[in-house]
Amino acid sequence: MAAIIPVSFVGSDVGTYRVLRMETVVGAPLAPVTAVTSHAQHVALDGVPVSAWVLRGTSTHVRYVEQSEQNTLRAVQPALGRQDCSHAALIPIRKSDAWWDLPQDERRAIFEARSQHIAATLKYLPAIARRLHHSRELGEPFDFLTWFEYAPEHAGLFEELVQLLRRTEEWKYVEREVDIRLISSPGSERPAPVGPCSVRPAE
Ligand code: HEM
Repeated sequence: MAAIIPVSFVGSDVGTYRVLRMETVVGAPLAPVTAVTSHAQHVALDGVPVSAWVLRGTSTHVRYVEQSEQNTLRAVQPALGRQDCSHAALIPIRKSDAWWDLPQDERRAIFEARSQHIAATLKYLPAIARRLHHSRELGEPFDFLTWFEYAPEHAGLFEELVQLLRRTEEWKYVEREVDIRLISSPGSERPAPVGPCSVRPAE
């Protein structure tokens, strides 16, 4: 059975990652913070003193990936927590009611046949490690908490990737997006990967 792995991202003044920049791409902003920490459990805002916000999600099963894509992803997708990947991005995203009103096959058609979310982004692996967390079913302000890790020399590559996705038909349904770029804080213990990426890398 696919594991259900909880995560909470805490925005605060101190934490495992220092904020390099925080930009509201569309929709309402998040309160500005200078640090972000992830926890492998669901924590409440009042359980983490002096935090500005807590975003919760779970890493669970895939919704759109087909078998051949899964095989390809497993072959190239790196694990999180690589030592040289000091840079990270947390990009919380909410899609519109128009998206959620569509049937599954139409969402898949927009996501892959027309936007090539997987086909066009595979070339960014293994430079970029990723994990997708779902939040919608938890009643959170965002539907997804997307998390990425990469080495400093791949910061430009990551920028190219996000710009590519933002030009797609899929992104017409994104009504809230906040882009938070991070660097691991000096001396802080980055947590070990807490579970599989949304598609597990090859064993
Ligand atoms: C590194 C290259 C990337 C790859 C290989 C990739 C791959 C994937 C895959 C396979 C899924 C589908 C998971 C499923 O079947 O449920 C997915 C979903 C998603 N990805 Fe990416 N992705 C990449 C980059 C990004 C970036 C940079 C963003 C944000 C700026 C992003 C945002 C999302 C979102 C929001 C979803 C959920 C879509 C939905 O369920 O409606 N991805 N991605």
